Amino acid sequence: MENIKSYVQQHKDRFISELIELLKIPSVSADTAYSQDVIDTAEAVKVSLSKAGCDLVEVCDTPGYPIIYGEKIIDPNLPTVLVYGHYDVQPPDPMELWTSPPFEPVIKTTDIHPEGAIFARGSCDDKGQMYMHVKALEYMVQSNTLPCNVKFMIEGEEEVGSASLAWFVERNQEKLKNDVILISDTGMISNQQPSITTGLRGLSYVEVEVTGPNRDLHSGLYGGAVANPINILAKMIASLHDEDNHITIPGFYDKVQELSAEERAEMAKAPFSLEKYKNALNIADVYGEKGYVTNERNSIRPTLDVNGIWGGYTGEGAKTVIASKAFAKISMRLVPNQDWHEITELFTKHFTSIAPAGVTVKVTPHHGGQGYVTPIDSIGYQAANKAYTETFGVPAIPVRSGGSIPIVSLFEKELKSKTILMGFGLDSDAIHSPNEHFGIFNYLKGIETIPLFYKYFVELSK
Ligand code: BES
Ligand code: MN
Ligand code: MN
Repeated sequence: MENIKSYVQQHKDRFISELIELLKIPSVSADTAYSQDVIDTAEAVKVSLSKAGCDLVEVCDTPGYPIIYGEKIIDPNLPTVLVYGHYDVQPPDPMELWTSPPFEPVIKTTDIHPEGAIFARGSCDDKGQMYMHVKALEYMVQSNTLPCNVKFMIEGEEEVGSASLAWFVERNQEKLKNDVILISDTGMISNQQPSITTGLRGLSYVEVEVTGPNRDLHSGLYGGAVANPINILAKMIASLHDEDNHITIPGFYDKVQELSAEERAEMAKAPFSLEKYKNALNIADVYGEKGYVTNERNSIRPTLDVNGIWGGYTGEGAKTVIASKAFAKISMRLVPNQDWHEITELFTKHFTSIAPAGVTVKVTPHHGGQGYVTPIDSIGYQAANKAYTETFGVPAIPVRSGGSIPIVSLFEKELKSKTILMGFGLDSDAIHSPNEHFGIFNYLKGIETIPLFYKYFVELSK
C-alpha cells in the first residue's frame, strides 16, 4: 500500500487544518456550560464521516449526548470493523498553566516532536486519534481499497463514564454487529517503538463527605474539643495505605489476578528508563507498592488515589475556623478480575467503619467499569502488529496500560467481540493536563497505519 504514504503527503495540510477546526469547538462533557458545543461537535463529526465516504450517517439521540453512527457496507459476506472513539474532551482547567489557549489550536515543536505537535485540549484524547480513522476511511474510499465493511460509533460522554453509550449498545446489538472493534484512544511507547495496548484497568470512582459539627466553628473556642472533619478525613485517607503502600481495605486484593514470573519477565523487556521517567516529571524518586516496579505499579496492580480534596477556608489570608464538612474525590484503578461494584461496596463499608463517633460519613459512587485484557494470538492483534511493523519498521510490543476505557469490557460482553487498541499518543502528550498536544508525526503515521490494519485483518480472516 505505497499509495497511502503519498496520499498522506499530498493531503497532510488539509488533514491538519480539518483537525484544527474540530479542536476549536470546546466539547467538554463534564460541564453543562459547554453543552451546545458538545452537540455542535457531534454534528461536525457527522459531516466529516459523510464527506469521508460513509453511505449512512446518523445522529443517534440518547438520554445524554448524541452518538454518531456511520457505516459503509460493501458486502455483507465480508468482515466488519467497528471503529469506536469519543468527541468529548476533559475540562481544560487550570487555564493559567496553558501556554496557548486550549481551544485555539497551534502547532509548536517540542524535544519529542521536532516536526511539530498540535497543542489543544482533545488533540490526542481523543479527537486527533479518532479523526485519523475518518481520514483513513477517506483514503480507502478514494483509492477504492476498502477491503471490508466498516461501522463508526463516536460518542460524547467517554470522559464522564459513557452512561449513554452503555444504553445505546444494549439497544442496538444487531446494528453494531462486527468482527472486531478498533480503537485509537491509548498510547504507544515512543515514535521509534510502537506498542499495542493489551490491557486496561478498571475503575471505581467515589466521592466522600465527612460531617462534624452542625456549623463552622471558631477554631479557638472549639478547637481540640470536637472532631475537625478535615483532620479526620486526612487521617482516614492516610490509613487507606500501609507502610508498604498496600491498600488496607479488607478484601480489596481477593480477586486480583497475579501474573506469573514468566509474564512479569516478559513485561520487563519493554524499553523503560527510570532516570528519564523521573527527569520528565522532575521528581527525585518514584513511589509505590512494595514488591513491584514502576511499569507494574501503573498497569497490573490496583491503586487508590485522591483526585481532589476540599473543605474549610481556602481564600486569601487566614480565617480561624473548624469547618462543618470535608470532601474528597477518590479513584481506585482496578485490574482483572476485580469487580467494580464489589470494590465500591468494600470501600464504602470500610470507609464508613473507620470514622470516629464524632463525625458522619457519606460515600457517593460516581462511575466505574471493569478492567480488560486481550490475548496476542488473535487475528486482530496479528493484523495490527503487521500494520505497525510495516509503517514503523519494527514490530509492536504488547503493553498493559494503566488507563481505563470502561466501555471496552462492555463491548466484549454485549457484542461478543474483541477490541484492538491501536494507540498513537505518547505519555508525554499531557492528556487531561494543561498543554495537551498530539504530534503531527503521530497523527499522519496513524492515518498511514490504519488502512493496513484493514488489509491484514481481511487477509488473515480468510
Ligand atoms: N483515552 C483515555 C484512556 C487511556 C489513555 C487509556 C491512555 C490508556 C492510555 C480515556 O479518555 C480516559 O481518560 N479514561 C478515563 C476513564 C473515564 C471513565 C473517565 C481514565 O482513564 O481516567
Ligand atoms: Mn480517551
Ligand atoms: Mn480521557
